[in-house]
Amino acid sequence: MTQQIDQVELKRGLRDVYFETTESSNVIGDVGRLIYRGYDIHDLAEHSSFEETVFLMVQGHLPTRSELDLFETSLREARAIRPEIVDVIRSVKDAHPMDVLRTGISALAAFDPDTEEVSHEATLRKGIRITAQVPTIVAAHHRIRNGLDPLPPDPSLDHAGNFLYMLLGEKPDEDTTRLMGKDLIVHLDHGSNASSFAARVAASTLADLHGAIVAGIATLKGPLHGGAAEGVMKMALEIGDVANVEAYLDAKHEKHERIMGFGHAVYRAEDPRARHLREGSRLLAEKQGQPKWFQILSKVEEEMRPFAERGICVNVDFWSGSVYYLLGIPEDLFISIFAVARVPGYVAQVLEQQDNNMLIRPQLQYVGPTDMTYVPIGERG
Ligand SMILES: CC(C)(COP(=O)(O)OP(=O)(O)OC[C@H]1O[C@@H](n2cnc3c(N)ncnc32)[C@H](O)[C@@H]1OP(=O)(O)O)[C@@H](O)C(=O)NCCC(=O)NCCS
Repeated sequence: MTQQIDQVELKRGLRDVYFETTESSNVIGDVGRLIYRGYDIHDLAEHSSFEETVFLMVQGHLPTRSELDLFETSLREARAIRPEIVDVIRSVKDAHPMDVLRTGISALAAFDPDTEEVSHEATLRKGIRITAQVPTIVAAHHRIRNGLDPLPPDPSLDHAGNFLYMLLGEKPDEDTTRLMGKDLIVHLDHGSNASSFAARVAASTLADLHGAIVAGIATLKGPLHGGAAEGVMKMALEIGDVANVEAYLDAKHEKHERIMGFGHAVYRAEDPRARHLREGSRLLAEKQGQPKWFQILSKVEEEMRPFAERGICVNVDFWSGSVYYLLGIPEDLFISIFAVARVPGYVAQVLEQQDNNMLIRPQLQYVGPTDMTYVPIGERG
């Protein structure tokens, strides 16, 4: 069967396609910069808090002291989840933590008074509630699957500290809380990443925020998006000792295998988020008397330096995995921590999409057969 294939400009994976304007975040890949609403990620990681950065992203400006106080209070007050949500988590507790989180967020929709409402104000209200409740779902699931009861949120702790407390059962010290806060800040938003794009596609149909976030979470789970931090720690454990790094990498290069935590679809220079977690990993390893993992990863980074000439540089996942590992967080929760950070990023992008909406509906070039003759099933060979 012959066919005419139209000449179209095909942009596979939508690479280099601009589909909308944004004021949320900008990834400047060739020089390794990341900007949230005009502010450099380094300034925010060093000087801001997660709560303040979330306010910046969803409201568009840095808060005054009283705005921040109010915002922090609304997040703290929304942390608890209903017993019905805990029951849902119990009933799916053996699934992957990201599947449990996706199911939990779907279940939240059933009880949210604003679910169907897609106005800016309602989306913001829901966004605050979902941002506050995602850590509670992740932590409740982790405890339930380990045969423990979920811990109620502690209003004396900030977002990052309370998350660690509900997850691990111990109140973290100030440095650890600050490090987790930094980790959440640097993972909050990242231009047109695949999961934020998925959330925008859902929102562009005027689907509600819960639906858009479920689309984002489902997309984030994929190993090409959220999964590399897990891979980095597996690599460090396989290497086992700093003396084995060179031989391990040589063997990988010989087989043309990729080194986890290096390379990025947009950055051709060092991922600006990596620096903050590198320092955090060093300090945490020192404090815990476990310098081995930092030494192994530092040696991997050093040995990979020649790859930088080809634009294959260290990325954020390289160091975040070791931070989570040193905090005693199991590897299958690494993507869920990414979700705790990224959900308010979805909220910011969904708000932008709704405020100036156009249905996202690209084309697929059909290259299959045409003019086939339908043969009834009984007459097919
Ligand atoms: C993230 C990633 C998919 C981006 O890839 P990309 O920019 O689309 O680049 P490509 O996949 O086209 O790779 C380009 C070249 O660099 C090489 N390369 C890319 N990442 C590499 C890595 N981590 N280690 C070794 N070589 C790598 C590829 O093998 C390819 O080489 P070739 O041209 O000789 O075939 C890729 O770098 C990767 O798989 N990294 C490891 C996983 C990871 O850390 N992901 C987290 C991202 S935040």
